[in-house]
Amino acid sequence: MILDLNFQMKKFLIGIFVTAMPILGKAQDSQDKSSRDNLLNVQIDKKWLLLPVKNGEERKKMVLRDGDKQLRSFDIELTDQDPDWYAYLDVSAWRGKTLSLDVHTGTDMSRALSLIKQSDKEIDKKTLYREKNRARFHFSPKRGWNNDPNGLVYYNGEYHLFFQHNPYGTEWGNMHWGHAVSKDLVHWREIGEALYPDSYGTMFSGSAVVDKNNTSGMGDGSDPPMVLFYTAEGSWVQGLAYSTDGRKFKKAETPVVPKITDGNRDPKVIWHEPSQKWVMVLYVELEGKQHSMYFLTSSNLKDWETTDVVKGGTDSDTYLFECPEFYELQVEGKPGVKKWILTGANSEYAIGTFDGEKFTPESERLNGQHGRDFYAAQTFNNEPKGRRIEMGWWRTKTTGHGNNFNQSMSIPMEIKLLETEEGLKIARQPVEELKKLRKKHHVFENRQLRDGESFLLKKIKDDFLEIHTRFSSITSEQIIFSIKGVDVIYNVKDETLSIDGVDMHLPLTNNQLELTLYVDRTGIELFANKGVYFMPVNINVDSNNKDIGIKVKGGSLRTESEVYQLRSIWR
Ligand code: FRU
Repeated sequence: MILDLNFQMKKFLIGIFVTAMPILGKAQDSQDKSSRDNLLNVQIDKKWLLLPVKNGEERKKMVLRDGDKQLRSFDIELTDQDPDWYAYLDVSAWRGKTLSLDVHTGTDMSRALSLIKQSDKEIDKKTLYREKNRARFHFSPKRGWNNDPNGLVYYNGEYHLFFQHNPYGTEWGNMHWGHAVSKDLVHWREIGEALYPDSYGTMFSGSAVVDKNNTSGMGDGSDPPMVLFYTAEGSWVQGLAYSTDGRKFKKAETPVVPKITDGNRDPKVIWHEPSQKWVMVLYVELEGKQHSMYFLTSSNLKDWETTDVVKGGTDSDTYLFECPEFYELQVEGKPGVKKWILTGANSEYAIGTFDGEKFTPESERLNGQHGRDFYAAQTFNNEPKGRRIEMGWWRTKTTGHGNNFNQSMSIPMEIKLLETEEGLKIARQPVEELKKLRKKHHVFENRQLRDGESFLLKKIKDDFLEIHTRFSSITSEQIIFSIKGVDVIYNVKDETLSIDGVDMHLPLTNNQLELTLYVDRTGIELFANKGVYFMPVNINVDSNNKDIGIKVKGGSLRTESEVYQLRSIWR
């Protein structure tokens, strides 16, 4: 922990309740002469300190201390105006103690400090998850910002979704691992931060495993430990944390992998059954901005040895850049035939073989997805049904004044490896558990549409939809499927599909086009050709526009559709 030696001089104790006391006009250190220190001492008797935030205000450094000991340090758009929202700082570990909160800024923050509350309850419960632009069946954080999914794992009856989280602001920063759990991959319960920044740095992305054989010795004799691997930003070491209850995490005192080069990050760890070893894939930038994935192995999760380096693109060519993912899949319909898949954050991937130490690509740079702003996807370790399930960060357009949260994850998808005319390809489908969200069902039977005709899919009231549609006997030039003001346009001649300026080449099969679309407030995820084509497009869908319709230009086709209105995942 970093100690602030000036701290002693600033200490100022005030009674039991939250009171604000600015200490005026004192320079913080020689680099920051204009700074004015604002200090609040508070006796902790509740779970959270609620900190008033206004998006867009100057970020100030806030430090929480117990005497000389720094407990938390982060940047926050602390406000002395009417706050947009309150950030929740969990202080339950220090109940009964008097802690100090210190804001480093040049301005007097006494009003902001006086707005800080203590609470055991979430005071925004009535509005939380009902915000106007909150996705209804995509995970998003209660408050603050999220980016990458981290540590996806199934452990003791629950799916765990950790995520890159800024709990104190709606933009990137202060990286923590947020934590949510689910019994069904669909309904998530966010339960607070799992990993906080420490003296090695903030908590960058990583993964989680279940150490069933207790190879690490970190189990408690009955429950196998869940072990997390993360990057500490700045020192660029790989750290380990473990838990035997899936709730409390203890960090190993020293990092398990030292820095290889600046910026190396995002360890993905898996168990390799044939060699009875753990394998870590780590993103490492080599000289000349060469992206690469390092392969390391270990028998106890603590001592790691490099066994292979696979090179990707350089500089702005982001093939195999950050957030590695590595897993084995059986080729569909070919029992016993298995291949390994290696991907980076942009989902471009290689298919190849792996002997426990070395990955040998057989085909490279395959395009993993065709959408916009789907990134850093990861798959679940230890999935109980043996499925390969993936979720990605979906950079939604939810930045805005007044918002208490920003960004989301994609829906969970099952990945399979298919033989196609263009060789082996991964394919994604929404997980079957999503069917739980279905409520009203609408069927639109097979009909013919001619040039210039359009057809309205009537009586669909909700904003949240699962749509299956098939176009066949196509002689038309263009199909426009309008969903609440968003046009999904298919140009038959050049076989391209586009949504909001995002295009993909999508070949017809037997003169047919079959689409599955999931429509939420923050965008559309489209699946075609057995899921080989996946196109997530982040676009805010107008909830006032209820029109869904199909229009045909230059020729005819037959069309049939099925639509489900979907429930919210937030109870
Ligand atoms: C990808 C990424 C990771 C890093 C994390 C930091 O989005 O840049 O490489 O660990 O985000 O938040």
